[in-house]
Amino acid sequence: MAHPPVVLHEPREVRALVRRLRGKDQPVVLVPTMGSLHEGHLSLVRTGAKLGPVVVSIFVNPAQFAPGEDFESYPRDLARDLDLLAGLPVTAVFAPEQRTLYPEDSDTWVEVERLSAPLCGAHRPGHFRGVTTVVAKLFGIVGPDVAVFGQKDAQQCLVLHRMTRDLEMPIELIFAPTVREPSGLALSSRNRYLDEPDRQRAMRLSEALFAGRDVLRTGERRRDAVEAAMREALADLAFDYAEMRLLPDLAHPQVVSEARVLLAVAAHVSTARLIDNLCLQVTAGEVREAPLFDDATLEAVSARLAAGRVDEKENHG
Ligand code: PAF
Repeated sequence: MAHPPVVLHEPREVRALVRRLRGKDQPVVLVPTMGSLHEGHLSLVRTGAKLGPVVVSIFVNPAQFAPGEDFESYPRDLARDLDLLAGLPVTAVFAPEQRTLYPEDSDTWVEVERLSAPLCGAHRPGHFRGVTTVVAKLFGIVGPDVAVFGQKDAQQCLVLHRMTRDLEMPIELIFAPTVREPSGLALSSRNRYLDEPDRQRAMRLSEALFAGRDVLRTGERRRDAVEAAMREALADLAFDYAEMRLLPDLAHPQVVSEARVLLAVAAHVSTARLIDNLCLQVTAGEVREAPLFDDATLEAVSARLAAGRVDEKENHG
C-alpha cells in the first residue's frame, strides 16, 4: 500500500530536507497549494515529478481572501489530501501554521502592481498582494529550483512570472494546462460548494470561453464582439467579468490582430466564485490554444535545466 508523504510544519525542517535533496544534484520542485486537492493539483505534482523530487505546500493563505470571502469556510482536510498524495511521487508536504508564515509583527508585502489591477484584482481587493506575498515566503523557505502552478489561475501565473523576474528569483516556473471534466467544467477546489444543478450552471463558464473562441475563429477580431458572445453565454449567472485581454500585459485593446490573447471569465454559482480562462494564439489564418508563456512549459523548463546541467559539467571540466 502507498504511504502518505512525510509532513513537515517548520521551515527549518524543510530547509534541511531540501539541502539533502539538492546534494543529490536534482532540481527540487515546489507545488504550492491551499489543500482541498483534486485531480488538477495531482497533475501539477505529476508534472513536477518529471523533473525532480517534489515538495507540496498546503496552506490556506488568509492574506489572499478579501473581507467577506470564504476564508473561514474554505475546505480543509489534511488527512484526505495526504491520502490523495500517497500514491504519487511526493517527497514531503510542507504544512505550516498560520503564525509561522504570518507572525504577529509580520510587516512585509510583495506586490506586482499593474498586472494585479484588472480582472480578479478589480473584484478581490488585496488578493494578488496576498498571493505574491505568500508565494515569496514559500520560495524563501523551500528554495525550490522549479515551481509548478495551474494555468487555470492565469492572472496569478502572470503576476508570479513578473514577480520572479522583477525580484531576480532563481526559480523556473511551469504553468500546467487546466484539467477539465468531460463537461468542460475546470477543476477547482471551490467546485465542492456545488450541487448537481449548480454544476450544470457552472458549465456556462467554459461555454462562454468556447463561444468567445468560436467568434475569433470566424475571423472576427473586435473585442466587443468576442466579449458580447462570452457575456451572452453567462447571462443566467451573476458574473464579475468576461473579457479578452492581450498577453502578457493584460492590455485591453479594441481590436486584436496577430497576438496571444486571454479569454477570462469569473462568475458566481451559488456560494462559489468560479474563474476560468482560455489562452489563444491568434494569427491571420487560425486561432489555436497556446500556453501562457512559451518559456514556462514543462518542455521548455526541462530543456533549460538539461542545458544548465551540461554547462555545469563543462565548468567542472
Ligand atoms: O493557487 C493557489 O492555490 C494559491 O493561490 C497559492 C498559489 C497556493 C498561494 O496561496
